[in-house]
Amino acid sequence: QSKSDHQLVLMHEFAADMYHHILLNTEEGQAALDYLENRGFTREIIEKNKIGWSLPEWNYMASALKRKGFSEEELEASGLGIPREQSSGYFDRFRGRIMFPIMNETGKVIAFSGRVLEHTKQEAKYMNSPESPIFQKSQVLYNVHHARSAIRKNRKIILFEGFMDVIAAGKAGVDNALATMGTSLTAQHIRQMKRFAQEVVICFDGDDAGWEAAKRAAISLNEENFKVEVAVLPGKMDPDDFVRENGAEAFKEQIIGKPHAFIAFAMMHARRHKNFQYENDLLQYIQEVLQLLAGRSSPLERDLYIKQLSVETGLSQEAILQHYRKLE
Ligand code: UTP
Ligand code: MN
Ligand code: MN
Ligand code: MN
Ligand code: MN
Repeated sequence: QSKSDHQLVLMHEFAADMYHHILLNTEEGQAALDYLENRGFTREIIEKNKIGWSLPEWNYMASALKRKGFSEEELEASGLGIPREQSSGYFDRFRGRIMFPIMNETGKVIAFSGRVLEHTKQEAKYMNSPESPIFQKSQVLYNVHHARSAIRKNRKIILFEGFMDVIAAGKAGVDNALATMGTSLTAQHIRQMKRFAQEVVICFDGDDAGWEAAKRAAISLNEENFKVEVAVLPGKMDPDDFVRENGAEAFKEQIIGKPHAFIAFAMMHARRHKNFQYENDLLQYIQEVLQLLAGRSSPLERDLYIKQLSVETGLSQEAILQHYRKLE
């Protein structure tokens, strides 16, 4: 790590401590603390994840960092400060947001994600640090430094869509949890995951976006020879919603504890928004599933899923198998 990278890490560490202090110990942080408590964040969770609050003032953090001796170049390179357009000086990127530090594998803060207290359509719900010499979104997985030992012990990664879900899963004792930082899963993410485990349970949000992202992630991970399973949420819930509604124990037992095999999930995905009374939908479904099977399945899996296809569609196993042979 170069000296300038080290400086950027120091700035993030300093900022994280300050945001955390403001959240926990000042009147200005009270509304955010109430919000977090309402969402089920305990003191312990707030401290473990070093969650904070950025003041709404325009240059509170920029001035604090300058007083600390960091230069304007460093302020800009860190992404914590943004140069003003009309005059000299810098303003804070993060203002009036709940601050979630993003840490590298050794637990050093390298970026932030900040959530608005009340989400309106006017501004993004989460604002993230920009790419910097110490933060590449396409490579970073949230919670790596906390989860590493639990992943090795369980030989399995539970992959979530958002860091709120990682934190919620922690309440259920699901500690082998990671999340991407608002991007889809990249080859670099997968390479990093490979260093820790060979098995993954994908547990994304139950909305359409979550289903699509889960399908893409499942295919990528399957291609990289992970054993892939997918845990599915009822309705449009996300894991954090489910934990708040049904409790951490239920989440662990009913959702994480009952994942679907890759192909079974892909079949559920292919059935979504299809109506088998329309023959086009029916034939397209069979085609999609058989293609998936032709790509990777063992003879046992092939038998199992062709049998299931036959039951679901009312077509004979022989006809389905004949069609399958043409794809193989
Ligand atoms: P979600 O919209 O599912 O957020 O985005 P969430 O985790 O459920 O958050 P709450 O419960 O509403 O507070 C999932 C992930 O996508 C990224 C974030 O990394 C988030 O964790 N994201 C989402 C952004 O980067 N920016 C956004 O505006 C929204
Ligand atoms: Mn989502
Ligand atoms: Mn969500
Ligand atoms: Mn959520
Ligand atoms: Mn939400």
